[in-house]
Amino acid sequence: MQKESANNYYKPAEDTLFFAEHLQHEKGRAALDIGTGSGFLAQCLSRNFELIVATDIDLNALAKAHESVENCICCNAADALTPVFDLVVCNLPYLPSEEMSDPAVDGLCDGVEGPIKIIGSASKVTKEKGKIIFLTSSLANHIELVQQVQKLGFVTKVIATKKLFFEELILVECTRGTSAVANFSYANKDCA
Ligand SMILES: C[S@@+](CC[C@H](N)C(=O)[O-])C[C@H]1O[C@@H](n2cnc3c(N)ncnc32)[C@H](O)[C@@H]1O
Repeated sequence: MQKESANNYYKPAEDTLFFAEHLQHEKGRAALDIGTGSGFLAQCLSRNFELIVATDIDLNALAKAHESVENCICCNAADALTPVFDLVVCNLPYLPSEEMSDPAVDGLCDGVEGPIKIIGSASKVTKEKGKIIFLTSSLANHIELVQQVQKLGFVTKVIATKKLFFEELILVECTRGTSAVANFSYANKDCA
């Protein structure tokens, strides 16, 4: 994951390309790219999906994404959306951080607090038989993140990993299981 200045949208990087490589065989009617950045993943999905929606909280990113993606929405995760999707993808900001100084990379406590909120939002717009694919890293507490996602009622599977010089990228697929824990929240006493 590249560390960028807060005023600059996230350019496709090694994590983006790794993610895209594993989306090639995904097919369906509607797909959502949360935190679309440049729109790169949304564009990849447009080959095999009829409808693509992309969201980001960064207007600079959405201005760029809008050059190639028709349905761009500026909102937190999927909070503004009501349709449901066959596939939701999110290349999450996963670096552990004390504060949200760069939303492109800062994942707050353990690199879990930010991502789990985004996945919680994604879960509300994922079809019953749909799936979420998200990217995390060995730099985050990815085991905790996966456990939190399971509490949302998903069955998780690591579908690919990639070792980089300073971290390992981890791609996780989530399909619905049978039960979810209501009103979960992430709190770790080591993060103030
Ligand atoms: C690591 S970048 C990935 C960008 C792009 N998807 C890619 O793969 O190159 C994370 C993106 O998520 C966006 N983002 C962070 N928090 C978000 C949130 N709560 N809701 C929507 N987008 C968010 C950031 O602005 C940034 O564009």
